[in-house]
Amino acid sequence: MNNLVNTMIFQMARRTHTVLTEEHHEILEFAYEYYCKNRVGPLYHILYQKLGFSQDHIDSLFPYGLFSIYSWLGINIQTPNQPCKPLAELDVKNYREVYFDHNGTTYLRDHIKKVLEQFNSADGNYGNPSCSTTLGKIAYEHIFQARRTIAETFKVSPREICFTSGGTEANNLALKGIAFNHLKKKGHIISSRIEHASVLSTLKWLESIGYEVTLLGVTPDGMIPLNELKAAFRKNTILVSIMAVNNEIGVINPIQKIAEICKERAVPFMSDCAQAYGKIPLRPKIDGISIATFSGHKIYAPKGTGGLFIDDSIQLTPIIHGGGQELGVRSGTENLASIVCLGKAAKLMHSDMRRETARLTKLRDYFLIKMEQTITSYRVNGSMKNRLPNNLNIGFKGVDSGAMLLSLNRIGIYVSSGSACSAGSSESSHVIEAIGGNKDYGTIRFSFGLKTSAKDIDYLFEYLPKLVKQLRSDNP
Ligand SMILES: Cc1ncc(COP(=O)(O)O)c(C=O)c1O
Repeated sequence: MNNLVNTMIFQMARRTHTVLTEEHHEILEFAYEYYCKNRVGPLYHILYQKLGFSQDHIDSLFPYGLFSIYSWLGINIQTPNQPCKPLAELDVKNYREVYFDHNGTTYLRDHIKKVLEQFNSADGNYGNPSCSTTLGKIAYEHIFQARRTIAETFKVSPREICFTSGGTEANNLALKGIAFNHLKKKGHIISSRIEHASVLSTLKWLESIGYEVTLLGVTPDGMIPLNELKAAFRKNTILVSIMAVNNEIGVINPIQKIAEICKERAVPFMSDCAQAYGKIPLRPKIDGISIATFSGHKIYAPKGTGGLFIDDSIQLTPIIHGGGQELGVRSGTENLASIVCLGKAAKLMHSDMRRETARLTKLRDYFLIKMEQTITSYRVNGSMKNRLPNNLNIGFKGVDSGAMLLSLNRIGIYVSSGSACSAGSSESSHVIEAIGGNKDYGTIRFSFGLKTSAKDIDYLFEYLPKLVKQLRSDNP
């Protein structure tokens, strides 16, 4: 086993609190040799035949049994109908972990970690915000403070902010909440082909129960064509739902113009702002956006937090019924500590926005210079003009994106791709398809954030040219 694999084993063991024994090493070494010889990992019965370890015993040694063995060794998981391409084999001496997946999710900011710890360890922060006792009022105040902070970032009233368990729930509430206002006659909803799954799947379901849905295509740059939007309205259009920023290609849509078009036709406009919130200024009330949704884990707040701005002229039919919390549209006792963190994280994102935008733009440009100097036959997907500075979505000609993601993962670099063999899926992304992406190009999303530095980019480019060369030669 090379140094890199050994480092990975020790790191994974530390992270999963696994105390490594001789049995672990015996299994891992056998599995690695088996993989090198056969290009697939050994199954349980082979480990039993060759080493005498039963499945139960292996499952008791490793946190996720065989899956841990594969992931610790960097063995890709394949299904018979979706075989993975071989991964690149690189010898890395200066191993470091580089996180280039901030559009996927973020870590907690150091300050937010402290807030969370302090909040949870303080006495008296456990009240139910709906309760009229002193403890309840303290809890209510904490939530109200977060609500007010988020309202300030949107320049709206705290009465127009509703907390949910995240972006997915917020999108469901917005879409179904409007749709269910028209349950009897149903109606028509306009959206786009590049929306997040939480919008597209909800729309698909609404369609299955009788609503009409138009999904607009996008320009090769990934933008919504406004003339097509105008032409899509029908007499029975009840909602337009267009994302502010696309999660895969980082392209920023002209939401003010879209809002204007909707306003002229008196149709509510909902925008999924999960990727935009905290990264570009959003003024929904001023711009005429009826509903804007956001997510906490994209802005260094805990996962399972998020919410919506709902203009006070808009009524939503609740999708979760109960005690009537959160403007009466989202029942359930609030996730107090996480909402407090969400408020603080939102404030920090907005106070840092200008500085971070400038810093990330420089890093992005530095990345592009390195690309130009070291890699041939690639393309950047999506508009470079209307785009978040933290996102580069790159197509590499002749490279399998799943193999690239896992090869990068092996050397400590975390990215995302339209397809990942380990996820058992090699379908190409619906966003890349919508912009007319060429299937010969494997797509990788690099997304930067608070902790990204030029050193991270240097580390990537120390290995990327060799990695791409190997993957291309394995994919003639
Ligand atoms: C554009 C967009 N909308 C919605 C979501 C869903 O948010 P959450 O993960 O908080 O449910 C995401 C998360 O990836 C996203 O990128």
